[in-house]
Amino acid sequence: MIVTLKQILNKANKGNYAVGAFNINNMEIAQAIIRAAAAQKAPVILQTSEGAIAYAGMEYLRCIAYQAAKEKVPVALHLDHGRDLELVKKCIKAGWTGIMYDGSHLPFDENVKNTKKVAQWAHAKGMGVEAELGTIGGAEEKIVARQIIYTDPDAAEEFAKKTKCDALAIAIGTSHGAYKFEGAPRLDLHLLKTIKERLQMPIVLHGASGVPAWLVTQAARYGAQLGKPEGVPDEQIATAVSYGVNKINTDTDLRLAFDAAVRKFLTEKPEDFDPRHILAPARDLIQQIVEHRIKLFGSSGKA
Ligand code: G3H
Ligand code: 13P
Ligand code: ZN
Repeated sequence: MIVTLKQILNKANKGNYAVGAFNINNMEIAQAIIRAAAAQKAPVILQTSEGAIAYAGMEYLRCIAYQAAKEKVPVALHLDHGRDLELVKKCIKAGWTGIMYDGSHLPFDENVKNTKKVAQWAHAKGMGVEAELGTIGGAEEKIVARQIIYTDPDAAEEFAKKTKCDALAIAIGTSHGAYKFEGAPRLDLHLLKTIKERLQMPIVLHGASGVPAWLVTQAARYGAQLGKPEGVPDEQIATAVSYGVNKINTDTDLRLAFDAAVRKFLTEKPEDFDPRHILAPARDLIQQIVEHRIKLFGSSGKA
Protein backbone atom coordinates (compact mmCIF):
# COMPACT_ATOMS: atom_id res chain seq x y z
CA MET A 1 0.00 0.00 0.00
CA ILE A 2 1.16 3.52 -0.69
CA VAL A 3 2.03 5.44 2.48
CA THR A 4 3.96 8.60 3.25
CA LEU A 5 7.68 8.82 3.90
CA LYS A 6 6.81 10.35 7.25
CA GLN A 7 4.74 7.32 8.33
CA ILE A 8 7.53 4.91 7.35
CA LEU A 9 10.31 6.91 9.00
CA ASN A 10 8.50 7.76 12.25
CA LYS A 11 7.81 4.06 12.77
CA ALA A 12 11.43 3.16 11.98
CA ASN A 13 12.67 5.84 14.39
CA LYS A 14 10.55 4.41 17.21
CA GLY A 15 11.57 0.83 16.35
CA ASN A 16 15.32 1.56 15.92
CA TYR A 17 15.72 0.18 12.43
CA ALA A 18 16.35 1.60 8.96
CA VAL A 19 14.25 1.37 5.82
CA GLY A 20 15.88 0.91 2.44
CA ALA A 21 15.40 3.67 -0.11
CA PHE A 22 16.19 2.28 -3.54
CA ASN A 23 16.39 4.26 -6.78
CA ILE A 24 14.10 3.28 -9.64
CA ASN A 25 14.60 4.15 -13.30
CA ASN A 26 12.48 1.53 -15.05
CA MET A 27 9.94 -1.24 -14.52
CA GLU A 28 12.36 -4.12 -13.91
CA ILE A 29 14.25 -2.29 -11.15
CA ALA A 30 10.98 -1.38 -9.42
CA GLN A 31 9.75 -4.97 -9.70
CA ALA A 32 12.98 -6.32 -8.23
CA ILE A 33 12.74 -3.98 -5.25
CA ILE A 34 9.07 -4.65 -4.53
CA ARG A 35 9.55 -8.42 -4.85
CA ALA A 36 12.38 -8.19 -2.32
CA ALA A 37 10.29 -6.07 0.05
CA ALA A 38 7.32 -8.46 -0.25
CA ALA A 39 9.55 -11.51 0.34
CA GLN A 40 11.04 -9.83 3.43
CA LYS A 41 7.72 -8.35 4.61
CA ALA A 42 9.46 -5.00 4.81
CA PRO A 43 8.44 -1.38 4.24
CA VAL A 44 10.32 0.17 1.34
CA ILE A 45 10.97 3.54 -0.25
CA LEU A 46 11.03 3.75 -4.05
CA GLN A 47 12.88 6.91 -4.97
CA THR A 48 13.30 8.79 -8.21
CA SER A 49 16.16 11.18 -8.89
CA GLU A 50 15.67 14.22 -11.12
CA GLY A 51 17.70 12.25 -13.70
CA ALA A 52 15.35 9.25 -13.44
CA ILE A 53 12.35 11.52 -14.05
CA ALA A 54 14.07 13.10 -17.05
CA TYR A 55 14.90 9.62 -18.40
CA ALA A 56 11.66 7.72 -17.85
CA GLY A 57 9.06 10.47 -17.48
CA MET A 58 7.18 11.42 -14.36
CA GLU A 59 3.92 9.68 -15.19
CA TYR A 60 5.62 6.40 -16.17
CA LEU A 61 7.50 6.29 -12.86
CA ARG A 62 4.40 7.23 -10.88
CA CYS A 63 2.36 4.46 -12.52
CA ILE A 64 5.15 1.90 -11.99
CA ALA A 65 5.50 2.84 -8.31
CA TYR A 66 1.75 2.87 -7.65
CA GLN A 67 1.43 -0.53 -9.34
CA ALA A 68 4.29 -1.85 -7.17
CA ALA A 69 2.52 -0.45 -4.11
CA LYS A 70 -0.35 -2.90 -4.66
CA GLU A 71 1.81 -5.43 -2.77
CA LYS A 72 0.91 -5.83 0.89
CA VAL A 73 3.88 -3.85 2.21
CA PRO A 74 4.10 -0.12 2.92
CA VAL A 75 5.62 1.73 -0.03
CA ALA A 76 6.56 5.41 -0.25
CA LEU A 77 7.29 7.16 -3.54
CA HIS A 78 10.02 9.67 -2.82
CA LEU A 79 11.83 12.38 -4.79
CA ASP A 80 15.60 11.89 -4.31
CA HIS A 81 17.87 14.99 -4.32
CA GLY A 82 15.21 17.40 -5.53
CA ARG A 83 16.89 20.71 -6.33
CA ASP A 84 14.51 22.15 -8.88
CA LEU A 85 11.69 23.78 -6.91
CA GLU A 86 9.31 23.55 -9.88
CA LEU A 87 9.90 19.79 -10.07
CA VAL A 88 9.36 19.50 -6.31
CA LYS A 89 5.98 21.19 -6.72
CA LYS A 90 5.08 18.88 -9.62
CA CYS A 91 5.97 15.76 -7.60
CA ILE A 92 3.86 16.91 -4.64
CA LYS A 93 0.95 17.48 -7.01
CA ALA A 94 1.45 14.23 -8.95
CA GLY A 95 1.29 11.85 -5.97
CA TRP A 96 4.84 11.45 -4.67
CA THR A 97 4.51 10.76 -0.93
CA GLY A 98 7.89 12.04 0.19
CA ILE A 99 10.23 14.79 -0.97
CA MET A 100 13.92 15.31 -0.48
CA TYR A 101 14.87 18.91 -0.97
CA ASP A 102 18.64 19.04 -1.43
CA GLY A 103 19.97 22.50 -0.70
CA SER A 104 23.31 21.18 0.55
CA HIS A 105 25.19 23.08 -2.17
CA LEU A 106 23.74 26.42 -1.01
CA PRO A 107 24.90 28.72 1.79
CA PHE A 108 23.29 27.74 5.13
CA ASP A 109 20.68 30.54 5.16
CA GLU A 110 19.57 29.83 1.60
CA ASN A 111 19.33 26.11 2.32
CA VAL A 112 17.17 26.98 5.36
CA LYS A 113 14.96 29.32 3.33
CA ASN A 114 14.28 26.83 0.52
CA THR A 115 13.90 23.79 2.78
CA LYS A 116 11.42 25.69 4.96
CA LYS A 117 9.39 26.63 1.89
CA VAL A 118 9.32 23.01 0.62
CA ALA A 119 8.41 21.75 4.11
CA GLN A 120 5.42 24.13 4.16
CA TRP A 121 4.22 22.90 0.75
CA ALA A 122 4.66 19.25 1.74
CA HIS A 123 3.13 19.59 5.21
CA ALA A 124 0.04 21.19 3.69
CA LYS A 125 -0.47 17.84 1.91
CA GLY A 126 0.38 15.74 4.98
CA MET A 127 3.77 14.79 3.56
CA GLY A 128 7.23 14.86 5.07
CA VAL A 129 10.44 16.41 3.80
CA GLU A 130 13.97 15.09 3.92
CA ALA A 131 16.64 17.78 3.83
CA GLU A 132 20.44 17.69 3.60
CA LEU A 133 23.09 19.53 5.55
CA GLY A 134 26.79 19.05 4.84
CA THR A 135 27.90 17.53 1.55
CA ILE A 136 28.05 13.92 0.55
CA GLY A 137 30.90 13.19 -1.86
CA GLY A 138 30.92 11.65 -5.32
CA ALA A 139 28.98 12.34 -8.46
CA GLU A 140 25.48 11.68 -9.69
CA GLU A 141 24.08 12.59 -13.07
CA LYS A 142 23.17 16.13 -12.11
CA ILE A 143 25.03 16.57 -8.86
CA VAL A 144 28.75 16.80 -8.35
CA ALA A 145 30.24 17.31 -4.89
CA ARG A 146 33.89 16.37 -4.80
CA GLN A 147 34.66 17.63 -1.32
CA ILE A 148 32.92 16.11 1.68
CA ILE A 149 31.91 18.70 4.28
CA TYR A 150 30.93 16.84 7.45
CA THR A 151 27.68 17.91 9.09
CA ASP A 152 28.17 20.12 12.13
CA PRO A 153 25.89 19.05 15.05
CA ASP A 154 25.16 22.65 16.19
CA ALA A 155 24.25 23.67 12.65
CA ALA A 156 22.12 20.52 12.26
CA GLU A 157 20.12 21.37 15.37
CA GLU A 158 19.56 24.96 14.24
CA PHE A 159 18.69 23.78 10.71
CA ALA A 160 16.10 21.24 11.87
CA LYS A 161 14.48 23.77 14.20
CA LYS A 162 14.29 26.52 11.59
CA THR A 163 13.15 24.41 8.63
CA LYS A 164 10.83 21.95 10.41
CA CYS A 165 12.12 19.21 8.11
CA ASP A 166 11.03 15.68 9.00
CA ALA A 167 14.26 13.80 8.27
CA LEU A 168 17.85 14.92 7.87
CA ALA A 169 20.51 13.54 5.53
CA ILE A 170 23.92 14.03 7.09
CA ALA A 171 27.47 13.87 5.76
CA ILE A 172 29.71 11.56 7.78
CA GLY A 173 32.15 10.51 5.06
CA THR A 174 30.02 8.61 2.55
CA SER A 175 30.06 9.35 -1.19
CA HIS A 176 27.71 8.58 -4.04
CA GLY A 177 28.84 6.09 -6.65
CA ALA A 178 31.20 3.11 -6.68
CA TYR A 179 34.42 4.83 -5.57
CA LYS A 180 33.80 5.89 -2.00
CA PHE A 181 37.19 5.54 -0.36
CA GLU A 182 40.84 5.43 -1.23
CA GLY A 183 42.20 2.94 1.26
CA ALA A 184 40.23 1.84 4.32
CA PRO A 185 36.60 2.97 4.60
CA ARG A 186 36.40 5.93 6.97
CA LEU A 187 33.02 6.94 8.32
CA ASP A 188 32.59 9.20 11.34
CA LEU A 189 30.02 7.05 13.11
CA HIS A 190 30.63 8.94 16.34
CA LEU A 191 29.42 12.11 14.61
CA LEU A 192 26.28 10.26 13.52
CA LYS A 193 25.65 9.15 17.13
CA THR A 194 26.12 12.72 18.42
CA ILE A 195 23.74 14.20 15.85
CA LYS A 196 21.08 11.54 16.51
CA GLU A 197 21.28 12.07 20.29
CA ARG A 198 20.76 15.80 19.83
CA LEU A 199 18.09 15.76 17.10
CA GLN A 200 16.21 12.53 17.86
CA MET A 201 14.62 12.76 14.41
CA PRO A 202 14.92 10.28 11.50
CA ILE A 203 18.46 10.44 10.11
CA VAL A 204 19.30 9.50 6.51
CA LEU A 205 22.46 7.97 5.09
CA HIS A 206 23.21 8.60 1.42
CA GLY A 207 26.02 7.06 -0.59
CA ALA A 208 25.62 3.87 1.44
CA SER A 209 26.06 1.15 -1.20
CA GLY A 210 28.19 -1.81 -0.18
CA VAL A 211 29.74 -2.44 -3.62
CA PRO A 212 30.10 -6.18 -2.88
CA ALA A 213 33.39 -7.60 -4.17
CA TRP A 214 31.69 -10.70 -5.67
CA LEU A 215 29.42 -8.50 -7.76
CA VAL A 216 32.32 -6.43 -9.04
CA THR A 217 34.19 -9.67 -9.82
CA GLN A 218 31.22 -11.03 -11.78
CA ALA A 219 30.84 -7.83 -13.78
CA ALA A 220 34.59 -7.76 -14.47
CA ARG A 221 34.63 -11.41 -15.53
CA TYR A 222 32.16 -10.54 -18.29
CA GLY A 223 33.97 -7.43 -19.48
CA ALA A 224 33.18 -4.53 -17.13
CA GLN A 225 36.07 -2.15 -16.57
CA LEU A 226 35.45 -0.75 -13.13
CA GLY A 227 38.89 0.02 -11.74
CA LYS A 228 38.99 -0.23 -7.96
CA PRO A 229 35.51 0.39 -6.59
CA GLU A 230 34.97 0.56 -2.82
CA GLY A 231 31.74 0.62 -0.82
CA VAL A 232 30.61 0.89 2.79
CA PRO A 233 31.20 -2.45 4.59
CA ASP A 234 28.10 -4.18 5.99
CA GLU A 235 29.45 -3.97 9.58
CA GLN A 236 29.60 -0.17 9.36
CA ILE A 237 26.04 -0.06 8.04
CA ALA A 238 24.90 -2.25 10.95
CA THR A 239 26.63 0.11 13.42
CA ALA A 240 25.06 3.13 11.70
CA VAL A 241 21.62 1.53 12.13
CA SER A 242 22.28 0.87 15.82
CA TYR A 243 23.30 4.56 16.18
CA GLY A 244 19.98 5.75 14.78
CA VAL A 245 19.97 5.88 10.98
CA ASN A 246 16.41 5.29 9.71
CA LYS A 247 16.69 5.63 5.92
CA ILE A 248 19.51 4.18 3.86
CA ASN A 249 19.87 5.09 0.18
CA THR A 250 21.14 2.53 -2.30
CA ASP A 251 21.50 2.93 -6.03
CA THR A 252 25.05 1.93 -7.02
CA ASP A 253 24.63 -1.69 -5.86
CA LEU A 254 21.53 -2.01 -8.05
CA ARG A 255 23.43 -0.61 -11.04
CA LEU A 256 26.27 -3.06 -10.45
CA ALA A 257 23.84 -5.99 -10.20
CA PHE A 258 22.09 -4.92 -13.39
CA ASP A 259 25.41 -4.59 -15.22
CA ALA A 260 26.82 -7.90 -13.92
CA ALA A 261 23.69 -9.88 -14.83
CA VAL A 262 23.20 -8.39 -18.29
CA ARG A 263 26.87 -8.85 -19.19
CA LYS A 264 26.79 -12.48 -18.02
CA PHE A 265 23.66 -13.28 -20.02
CA LEU A 266 24.86 -11.63 -23.22
CA THR A 267 28.23 -13.38 -22.99
CA GLU A 268 26.75 -16.81 -22.30
CA LYS A 269 23.85 -16.54 -24.76
CA PRO A 270 25.14 -14.46 -27.70
CA GLU A 271 22.40 -15.87 -29.94
CA ASP A 272 19.53 -14.66 -27.69
CA PHE A 273 18.29 -11.14 -28.35
CA ASP A 274 14.94 -11.22 -26.52
CA PRO A 275 14.92 -8.24 -24.09
CA ARG A 276 12.84 -10.25 -21.62
CA HIS A 277 15.50 -12.96 -21.47
CA ILE A 278 18.22 -10.35 -21.10
CA LEU A 279 16.52 -8.35 -18.34
CA ALA A 280 14.99 -11.12 -16.20
CA PRO A 281 18.35 -12.22 -14.67
CA ALA A 282 19.13 -8.56 -13.89
CA ARG A 283 15.79 -8.26 -12.09
CA ASP A 284 16.54 -11.44 -10.10
CA LEU A 285 20.02 -10.30 -9.10
CA ILE A 286 18.78 -6.87 -8.01
CA GLN A 287 16.13 -8.60 -5.88
CA GLN A 288 18.85 -10.68 -4.21
CA ILE A 289 20.89 -7.54 -3.41
CA VAL A 290 17.86 -5.67 -2.07
CA GLU A 291 16.81 -8.58 0.16
CA HIS A 292 20.30 -8.71 1.64
CA ARG A 293 20.22 -4.99 2.39
CA ILE A 294 16.72 -5.07 3.88
CA LYS A 295 17.93 -7.75 6.34
CA LEU A 296 21.06 -5.71 7.10
CA PHE A 297 18.95 -2.61 7.81
CA GLY A 298 16.75 -4.49 10.29
CA SER A 299 13.52 -3.83 8.43
CA SER A 300 12.62 -7.47 7.63
CA GLY A 301 9.21 -8.30 9.10
CA LYS A 302 8.43 -4.63 9.88
CA ALA A 303 5.70 -4.26 7.22
O1 G3H B 1 22.26 9.70 -5.44
C1 G3H B 1 21.51 9.35 -6.22
C2 G3H B 1 21.41 8.30 -7.20
O2 G3H B 1 22.51 7.51 -7.36
C3 G3H B 1 20.80 8.84 -8.43
O3 G3H B 1 21.69 9.04 -9.45
O4 G3H B 1 21.06 11.22 -10.48
O5 G3H B 1 22.28 9.46 -11.80
O6 G3H B 1 19.88 9.13 -11.18
P1 G3H B 1 21.20 9.77 -10.82
P1 13P C 1 24.99 4.99 -3.62
O1 13P C 1 25.64 5.64 -4.79
O2 13P C 1 25.99 4.64 -2.56
O3 13P C 1 24.14 3.83 -3.96
O4 13P C 1 24.02 6.10 -2.95
C1 13P C 1 22.78 6.38 -3.51
C2 13P C 1 22.13 7.58 -2.94
O5 13P C 1 22.56 8.16 -1.96
C3 13P C 1 20.93 8.08 -3.61
O6 13P C 1 20.46 9.28 -3.06
ZN1 ZN D 1 22.01 10.57 -2.36
